Amino acid sequence: MSTKPSANLPNTIRPMTAADLLPVVEIECVSSQSPWSLKQFELSLNDSLVLESDNKVVGFAVMSAVLDQAELHNIAIHPEHQGIGLGAVMLDYFLNNLPNEIKSVYLEVRLSNFRAIRLYQERGFVQVGERREYYKTELGREDALLMCRDMATETP
Ligand SMILES: CC(C)(COP(=O)(O)OP(=O)(O)OC[C@H]1O[C@@H](n2cnc3c(N)ncnc32)[C@H](O)[C@@H]1OP(=O)(O)O)[C@@H](O)C(=O)NCCC(=O)NCCS
Repeated sequence: MSTKPSANLPNTIRPMTAADLLPVVEIECVSSQSPWSLKQFELSLNDSLVLESDNKVVGFAVMSAVLDQAELHNIAIHPEHQGIGLGAVMLDYFLNNLPNEIKSVYLEVRLSNFRAIRLYQERGFVQVGERREYYKTELGREDALLMCRDMATETP
């Protein structure tokens, strides 16, 4: 019997391990237009989290921190589990567990990725720049928005 995806199932967020690489690459391949390679995830293992729902890896986040700045490099939820709050759970976990010294968090997002942009805006990210023709698309290239969250500012 299959279980309907739900944000109310037991969700666990934990560091990514080598054993998670294959499911993570699978999620990346079905959710991203320009998927990261297995090697890229391997190199980021120490800076990555996975989200397990009902004991299955259904999402991940990759970040880094230098001095007082953090960057969210990649985040995805498997399409079968999107739209039920898990992306927000993952992002909130990342933001709530940053080292105290982190003052700002940066990320880049495709201009057309309304779902992700809305999620980031709801979490207090604002646009601070644009990168022209940053991402590949099937037809050419697409701009990226550079977004920042000031950790000293309360979210609405
Ligand atoms: C972006 C992503 C991580 C969001 O995860 P998710 O689990 O689908 O998002 P959630 O269900 O937690 O929803 C969080 C917010 O996203 C937005 N959102 C979710 N589904 C949406 C939809 N169908 N249409 C518009 N906005 C939507 C809403 O703002 C929502 O907040 P709300 O619940 O107050 O409406 C996920 O869609 C994904 O993996 N996308 C592919 C990879 C990607 O684009 N990553 C971001 C790279 S920068």
